[in-house]
Amino acid sequence: QLWQPPVAAGDFDAKEGDVVCVWSSSPEEKRLLLLGLGEKEKVTAERLRRAWSELTKFCRKQKIKTLNVLLPEIESLPRPIAARAIVEGLFLGNYVYDVHKLEPASLVEQITLIASDVHAIEEIVDKVTKVMAAVWLARDLCNGNADDITPQYLSQIAQEIAKEHPRAEAACHGRSWIEEKGMGLLLAVSRASCREPTFICMHYNGNPSSPDRTCLVGKGITYDTGGLSLKPMASMETQRIDMSGAAIALAVFKAVSALNLHINLSIAIPSCENAIGSMAYKIGDVYKGYSGKTVEVTNTDAEGRLILADAIAYAVKELPISRIIDIATLTGAVDVALGGEAVGLFSNSDFLAEELIASGQRTFERAWRLPLYEEYKELLKSDTADIKNASGRSAGAILGAIFLQEFVEDTPWAHFDIAGCAYNKEAKRYLPKQATAVGVRLLVDYLEHLEKKEAVT
Ligand code: BES
Ligand code: MN
Ligand code: ZN
Repeated sequence: QLWQPPVAAGDFDAKEGDVVCVWSSSPEEKRLLLLGLGEKEKVTAERLRRAWSELTKFCRKQKIKTLNVLLPEIESLPRPIAARAIVEGLFLGNYVYDVHKLEPASLVEQITLIASDVHAIEEIVDKVTKVMAAVWLARDLCNGNADDITPQYLSQIAQEIAKEHPRAEAACHGRSWIEEKGMGLLLAVSRASCREPTFICMHYNGNPSSPDRTCLVGKGITYDTGGLSLKPMASMETQRIDMSGAAIALAVFKAVSALNLHINLSIAIPSCENAIGSMAYKIGDVYKGYSGKTVEVTNTDAEGRLILADAIAYAVKELPISRIIDIATLTGAVDVALGGEAVGLFSNSDFLAEELIASGQRTFERAWRLPLYEEYKELLKSDTADIKNASGRSAGAILGAIFLQEFVEDTPWAHFDIAGCAYNKEAKRYLPKQATAVGVRLLVDYLEHLEKKEAVT
């Protein structure tokens, strides 16, 4: 007898991400899942990601653990782009953070892809698997208890990542090194916490014959109470994710070394808690950092820029870098401006900014550039020090970037303010509840493209 597709019956109209389950009498494949990809003419990489993530989401709900997938031909997109987006989608729908739950969540454990171009697909699967392992690591670190994911713990993770590749190394420094280096801003922020601050440096030498080297700097505040400028309760609740920048930098390093990219990459992570107590650094006092510049602290909750200033100044002075990109959950203001649909991007280099925006478009981790007009500097003038760390409410996200720029000198630099995108109250499309690790795929894409360009010249 002829099998009636549910499309004809009107049960399934193949809208993007629609999944329908049909039961068959075959003992091997009891269920046949049909996935809608929407209008053929409108298919893009992002639409494929979204649609295919619905498939693994569906399986999670139904507790389906193994899947055989027929990879479709997508006429309007080049095969590598379509296949990569599909595999990414399958992964992206298959993450849950259930570490603290008694009952573990159901995940898809095995997916078999069926395609004729096996070798090309295997290569894509291998790449995507490595990038996603890094995304999962970043999310797990962000979601983990602040009491567990301490500066010391991040150092341990860095050591473990370095062990995975012969061309990778990690140096994790403690308080005495930070004191010797004169990183007075990192020391100030860390003072009220019983946990020592750390400064993590990692180097990956994927192209030893090239002088080109990218440096990522990640904000590693493992918990942000606001310090004496104490946060209200509701805003403190999610501040264990204030080390998202650090987690992303570690994850990108892990992915780049796993992918064996022929580039040189360094990461620098200043890490501590912004706690409150009798040792807390003080509103109105002046502190001097690695660069020698003095900072009047007008708000102890603007701590991210302080620890980043020390890390950026150090990287610019002591590491042989060609460009520096920092990633930080820096301001609530960037969330007000862009919400969860784009990360804030600031740069002193049009070229670097454009490359990063392009990576954001390809990965759909979109970045929106905001200005760094000279005139904003006026707002950070201090009577008592070279600069102050915060002023009122206006231009909140921009002032964070303006402050950081004081420490980059002439190095091409970009700053990502990810505070709006790092955390989701509710799951959204293929992004989970809580930590998203948005930025990992963007930065890996950027470094993959850098590798291709280096190969040309
Ligand atoms: N960690 C916060 C920013 C943040 C807010 C991250 C919401 C994630 C979600 C940062 O250290 C902070 O407190 N920024 C201040 C800056 C202000 C005092 C200039 C802010 O946004 O209020
Ligand atoms: Mn803060
Ligand atoms: Zn913070």
